[in-house]
Amino acid sequence: MRPPLLRALAATAFAAVALPAVLVAQDGAALYARCAACHQANGTGVPGAFPPLAGSEWVVGKPDAAIRILLHGVQGALTVKGVTYNQSMPAYGTGQIMTDAEVAAVLTYVRTSFGNKASAVTAAQVAGVRAATKGRKAQWMEAELKPFR
Ligand code: HEC
Repeated sequence: MRPPLLRALAATAFAAVALPAVLVAQDGAALYARCAACHQANGTGVPGAFPPLAGSEWVVGKPDAAIRILLHGVQGALTVKGVTYNQSMPAYGTGQIMTDAEVAAVLTYVRTSFGNKASAVTAAQVAGVRAATKGRKAQWMEAELKPFR
């Protein structure tokens, strides 16, 4: 039997390791509230206005296109699941800047919810895209994003 202090330390170490993963998952769901006004709570979007995230080729492919969309927005003709939208999403919907960790968390949530089964997104992946697109001001157009999905 280990002394009580050692057992307490072991328990603390376990909590320290286990907690962040739980927090990231919760963050993603909470952050999605910022997207739900347009893309809807269940990711179906609104026909003719807001494209769906459920089953979207922009969501479940490589994460690089979706990361770009959150960092700088997207505008103009954009085809999602065979339907062409021609709207505008400002940088992450409201023009606010999200941190790398927030973009990673919300995209991980979106890629693993609404029936989507894509890989998690890391803050490091978001940081890489942020660095690669540094200095960009304009929203993206579909043709620029296609190579990244
Ligand atoms: C103010 C409304 C609004 C908000 C808020 C918003 N979006 Fe969008 N989003 C749009 C519109 C409109 C488009 C399509 C733009 C176009 O037609 O060029 C779009 C496109 C997208 C796309 C690519 C197309 C698709 O349906 O897969 C993704 C991915 C996306 N949004 C994710 C998000 C995420 C994640 C959030 C929250 C962090 C978010 N959006 C917040 C309006 C919004």
